[in-house]
Amino acid sequence: MKICCIGAGYVGGPTMAKIAQKCPDIHVNVVDINAEKIAQWQSDELPVYEPGLLECVKEARGRNLTFSTDIDEGIRRADIIFMSVNTPTKTYGVGAGKAADLKYVERCARMIAEVSTSDKIVVEKSTLPVRTAQSIKRILDATSEKGGVKFQVLSNPEFLAEGTAMQDLENPDRVLIGGETSPEGNKAVEVLASIYAHWVPREKIITTNIWSSELSKLTANAFLAQRISSINAMSALCEVTGADVDEVAHAIGRDSRLGSKFLKSSVGFGGSCFQKDILNLVYLCEHFGLPEVAHYWEQVVTMNAYQRDRFVKRILENLFNTVSDKKIAIWGFAFKKDTNDTRESAAIYVCKGLLEEQACLNIYDPKVTKEQIYRELGLPEDSDRIKICQNPYEAAEDAHAVAILTEWDEFKCDQMDYQKVLESMQNPQFLFDGRNIVDREKLKQMGFEVHSVGKSDFYAV
Ligand code: NAD
Ligand code: UDX
Repeated sequence: MKICCIGAGYVGGPTMAKIAQKCPDIHVNVVDINAEKIAQWQSDELPVYEPGLLECVKEARGRNLTFSTDIDEGIRRADIIFMSVNTPTKTYGVGAGKAADLKYVERCARMIAEVSTSDKIVVEKSTLPVRTAQSIKRILDATSEKGGVKFQVLSNPEFLAEGTAMQDLENPDRVLIGGETSPEGNKAVEVLASIYAHWVPREKIITTNIWSSELSKLTANAFLAQRISSINAMSALCEVTGADVDEVAHAIGRDSRLGSKFLKSSVGFGGSCFQKDILNLVYLCEHFGLPEVAHYWEQVVTMNAYQRDRFVKRILENLFNTVSDKKIAIWGFAFKKDTNDTRESAAIYVCKGLLEEQACLNIYDPKVTKEQIYRELGLPEDSDRIKICQNPYEAAEDAHAVAILTEWDEFKCDQMDYQKVLESMQNPQFLFDGRNIVDREKLKQMGFEVHSVGKSDFYAV
């Protein structure tokens, strides 16, 4: 059996590497229009940083895992084609700012339709609005009528989270496959299920109708993000009442009906999925005439923006209402730890807010490149408003404040020499912990003025 995956990004690369590792009898070919990315996948400098990914790629590469820019050939030879291209928020025309831009997906479907000379199973791996499979099927079928080639479209959304992608793929909570409710549809579902069954227990492979599968992905992301916005809303209340958001999260998380995960209050969620997928859901609800439902979900995104803005305001207010020409150390730029991905990172918004107030930023992140930081902040590389540092100590030197924006382990109290940081900073030494990862009491005793999310000393009991 031969698989082709179109799109060698954060999803296509890791998911296909895992399939190739677990199924040595299946040839997996990952193709992309971006030649530079394909060259990186063929090297040891992968375009995606993910713990355990390089080892997995190395095990299968050259055996049954290949990377290529020859998309037509990849499609022609494959029995199963995964579409794993990006589906960003539309920036133009109808639905701008909310709807998913499906031009890359449609382009894929047309390429598949044009070059296929044998029957294929086409799998939606990208996150798509409910009922997209219908459009894909129409494009494919228009061609199949001419050439006699038959297509089955399946929905198989990906639930991996970045930073833990390889663990998530190795041991998923579930694999979801949606297919057409017909004998041909059931057969295609079984073919895909049997691939995952190489390492995923059968009871974890859920099969549904295709619309349920598409909608489940948007629903899962909306529910996860909603939990973060809910606890972040409570963090604002904690800060003015003396309650501690981590204690509140711990207390409610012990209720087995709520569970403890995704209750970590922070400077705000980032990443390429949550905001994009919720806005897509909002657009869909509006489109189907459900304004109340749309409004309900939109609040999750509104609350997230409020949380980021609040963090910037807190820095400003504590630094005596001006950060103009003050040096602020930014520790962490990725949207979460253990990834080099910066899409929609809270750090972008916080940095932009501080730059608007004319602050000078010393930015350090262990995995994000200098070029990427300049690009995300929309600054020319000769800008003197920011400096990219090689380590957190360099960033903190002479700074008025340190702001922790990504929860990299190296910023924890047992891994950093905070005395050295304290001594190198301007007085008073402010530390704004946007991830609640430092030992507040310890740092306060050392002499730092510590501000954490959802905690306040003013009302301490
Ligand atoms: P990405 O931007 O990292 O990768 C997409 C790749 O597709 C790019 O390398 C791009 O060059 C390629 N591409 C676009 N059009 C192409 C074409 N016509 N032919 C060949 N290649 C083409 O995106 P991603 O983060 O991997 O996300 C892909 C999809 O998976 C999205 O729909 C996303 O919502 C979904 N998803 C992402 C995550 C995540 O954590 N990143 C998790 C689950 C689902
Ligand atoms: C998310 C979903 O978790 C995953 O299932 C889906 O496939 C893709 O979208 P991802 O965005 O990669 O994954 O990472 P995730 O761990 O969900 O974190 C998203 C953001 O929320 C990060 O910025 C993270 O720091 C933040 N977060 C997460 C919190 O602020 N608090 C939490 O309790 C959890």
